[in-house]
Formats: sequence, structure tokens, C-alpha cells
Amino acid sequence: MNKITKQKPAAVRPHSQNSVHSGKKIRELVPALLNWFTTNARDLPWRRTRDPYAIWVSEIMLQQTQVKTVLPFWERWMRELPDIQAAANASPAKIHKLWEGLGYYTRARNLQKAAQIIVKERGGRFPEHFDDVLALPGIGRYTAGAICSIAYNQPLPILDGNVIRVLTRIFGIARDPRAKETNQQLWQIAGELVNRAKDTKTKNACSHLNQSLMELGALVCTPRNPQCGVCPVKKLCVAFREDRIAELPNTGKRQAATARRFMAFAIARNGKYLVRQRPAGVVNAHLWEFPNVELNGDAKSPEEIFQTSFGSSAAMVRLLCVLKHSITRYRITLEAFRIEPARLPRIRGGVWRTPAQLKKLAFNSAHKKILAHL
Ligand code: ADE
Repeated sequence: MNKITKQKPAAVRPHSQNSVHSGKKIRELVPALLNWFTTNARDLPWRRTRDPYAIWVSEIMLQQTQVKTVLPFWERWMRELPDIQAAANASPAKIHKLWEGLGYYTRARNLQKAAQIIVKERGGRFPEHFDDVLALPGIGRYTAGAICSIAYNQPLPILDGNVIRVLTRIFGIARDPRAKETNQQLWQIAGELVNRAKDTKTKNACSHLNQSLMELGALVCTPRNPQCGVCPVKKLCVAFREDRIAELPNTGKRQAATARRFMAFAIARNGKYLVRQRPAGVVNAHLWEFPNVELNGDAKSPEEIFQTSFGSSAAMVRLLCVLKHSITRYRITLEAFRIEPARLPRIRGGVWRTPAQLKKLAFNSAHKKILAHL
């Protein structure tokens, strides 16, 4: 299938080897979680379907993005590209436009690449076997487990940030969950839970057990101010009993945030603006942007920066907006100026577009906000 070879995850071993917890605890947790999920699960649109494509799209969108943000994007994607064939055939511009504002655009490009592989190699039918799902671009162990358990009710474990938080607290695991052995131990526990769910013979038990862990992490067992009072498994939770909730999970020291400053220029001429498309292989690849530069600390005026970066003096300069946002560990400040240049600036790949045409292009979130200030 795709060229990147992914490591096959270690199988979940039956209980006893490698376990620091009791089978009894697993047996008690599973019905408590399943019951709680039945009455507390949010009514989310991707929970009303068993279509693996719809579930796959939701899982990719939900990586690094909150449910409330994803909802309108998922609805629109499913309306515009209702099946794998449609996703495979869409133009890259359409894919980027549908993803505009969600960030991490490689996710969208991988989704389309995978859809094209499924059309070419599988007649458009989403695979049913975990290994085949895992082999698709953009799908890792968590996402393959989530799709196979939710769409097909297969007893496959999931482990993401939410589930790590829930399990490290319930089992009182104090070591860094990203360390190899601890991570393996957490996958092992997640596997034991979903296998136990399967044994209960409850309808959709594997799907619901995995989603109960996600849901508990999102609604109750939150990073700050967890709602332990309403937690369905508090009696089984080591962190609750030992008052260690705030310490777990132990994610170690976070890297300090780094401040970065950028200046962007909406270069105006004859009612049009100059924009360029970012190249492949960089952050926000293929998205459109206003020409911009990173500032290196020296305080310089926008006229000076524009002159040295783009080889033209500015006849008119006006501040449009100052935007602050974060990407990974960077705290970014972006100052945007409207500039009327004295001469045509030198900008490789630049094209002139009217405001109406700009609205149809896919910009990253910060540059899209500049559009509103033109
Ligand atoms: N986060 C990741 N997958 C999810 C899902 N299926 N429902 C809600 N939140 C999620």
C-alpha cells in the first residue's frame, strides 16, 4: 500500500503477564464505563452512523482538535464529499478549502491520498482489517483502533491523550506515559478493557467501551478541575483515593514557549492584492498567504522591513490588525499592514487577486483573519 512502513503494534497479551493491576479491577471497570456511556454520551453526528468513511473523517479531524470545533467542518465535508469516491476525486483546492481553519493540513492531504488508494486498490470499500487500515497514509495505531472498534465493533485498543489521562489516574501510574515501557503498559490495559467488553456480549460493547474512555476524558476526567464527584469509576480510581489527581498524568517538564514575531503585507494595487501559495514540505504547505517575514528582534518600521524584504518602497502604509496565536510551542504575534507600493515588488510566485477571489482561496487561520480587515 503506501510506501511508509509502519511498525505493527505488539499484540495485547492475555491478563497476568505484564500486568500491574488485577483482573478484578478490569472486570469492575468495564460495566461501570459501559453503563455510564449509555446515559452520558454526547449525541455527536458521527455517532449516528457505522459508515467507516464518516467515522474515519471524524477521527482525523478530531486529532489535535476539539469536538465543538470539528462539528461544522465534519458536517460540511460529509455534505460536499459524501463518500470515498468523492473524496478521492476532489480537487486539492477543494480539499484545502474544506479544511481551512482546522490546521495541520497534512491530515487533509493524507485523507485524500488514502481515499485514492482505497478506490484504486479496493474498489472504494474501506478495509475491515486493522493491518490494512493501519497501512493507509495518516492513520496510526490510535486511529486504526478507533475506526475498527467504532465502525466494526472489533476489540482493538485506543490510547490518546484523553485515554492516557483516564488510565494513569485510575491505575495510579506515576511514570511518564510517553516512556516506552509505560506506554506499552497503557496499551496493554486499554487492550484488556476492550477485550473484557467484548466478553460481556453487550451490543456494540467494544465501540462503546473505547468511546467511554474518550468521553470520560473529555467531559469528566479533564486535565484541570476534573469532575470526580460525578465520575462513574471514582471508587476504582487510585488517584482519587490517594488525592493524586493533580499529579497525574506525569508528563514531565514542558518546553518553555518561544515568542516569535511576523509582519505580513497586504500589498494593494488597482483593487487587487498580491498573495502567494506556500510550497510543499513546509508548515501550512499549499495554503495561500500574504507575503510576510519573521522579525529578528530589531525594532524596524514596516516601511523598512518591506523595502529590505521585497525591494520596493511603500507609498502608503496602514496597520490592519495585530493577531496573536499559538502553534505547538510558539507564541506568535503577527502584525498585518496594508501597503501601496511605490513600484511593483519582487515576490516569487505572487499573483494579484480581488477580495472576492481571495475569499475562494484556502488561507491558514491567521491570514484568513487579515482578509476581514482589508
Ligand atoms: N476524540 C477522538 N475521537 C472521538 C470521538 N469519536 N468522539 C468524541 N471525541 C473524540
